[in-house]
Amino acid sequence: MNDRTASPVLQLDNVGRRFGGLPAVDGLSISAPPGTITGLIGPNGAGKTTVVNLIMGILKLTSGRVLFDGRDVSQVEAADLARAGMARTFQNIRLVTEGTVLDNVLSGLHAHQRTGLWSNLLGLPSARTEQREHLREAMALLERFGMAELAEHRAGTLSYGHQRRIEMMRALAMKPKLLLLDEPVAGMNDAEAASLGRIFSEVAAEGVAILLIEHNMRFVTQICSHLYVVASGRLIAEGPPETVLADPVVIEAYLGS
Ligand SMILES: Nc1ncnc2c1ncn2[C@@H]1O[C@H](COP(=O)(O)OP(=O)(O)OP(=O)(O)O)[C@@H](O)[C@H]1O
Ligand SMILES: [Mg+2]
Repeated sequence: MNDRTASPVLQLDNVGRRFGGLPAVDGLSISAPPGTITGLIGPNGAGKTTVVNLIMGILKLTSGRVLFDGRDVSQVEAADLARAGMARTFQNIRLVTEGTVLDNVLSGLHAHQRTGLWSNLLGLPSARTEQREHLREAMALLERFGMAELAEHRAGTLSYGHQRRIEMMRALAMKPKLLLLDEPVAGMNDAEAASLGRIFSEVAAEGVAILLIEHNMRFVTQICSHLYVVASGRLIAEGPPETVLADPVVIEAYLGS
């Protein structure tokens, strides 16, 4: 669970991004190996969400490179990166609120649909088999997140904690190699957070590289094998959680914000 020698799924090499001349991310080099949860922490406005948007191709880099599975993907479009195996959850939940829980999870599975539009419209056997398979996979995810009995409920009517879970299921449905979680347990109590933390650890153990952004330090310490700390867009510390969180430079950065 602590193998940072495996070749990284994600590598940021001296990445920078400016907004109107001001650096939001400044010369950042971090990596995320498979099979582990890597934490990215830092005070509000440090540039964490910007890092996620740069990785996902939502924002273009001003400098540096992003490598995915060793390939330079700095210029690759967001849709192609998603197909290649990047998935994320949002700091502010984004769901199809009118759709059911199941619809939302299925939309993640459809991102990887093999059969084409026509075979689906014509109800060809290949399409029916794939639909059955998707339904089975979606229900397995719902079971895993303890939401099977809510499958037919409209997403927008459910609690905040449930909506957060739906986002995670949709991201996992895409079978990512790299999962970016932007404050996935914000606003949850310790018990709820711990139960999701166990799922994240299981997902990582299956070989996924997880990059976790989170302000809940207890949670971060429990599930991350390695932390990167950013402040004002720059890396100020990295290492095992216990070491990093005791570092005076890190404490100062948090107190100063
Ligand atoms: N689209 C944008 N245009 C201009 N400035 C932006 C944009 N997005 C982010 N910024 C600025 O970049 C800096 C980093 O913002 P970012 O949202 O990445 O921080 P964060 O670490 O995710 O903070 P938080 O912990 O509050 O979520 C901030 O100063 C922010 O105002
Ligand atoms: Mg943020």
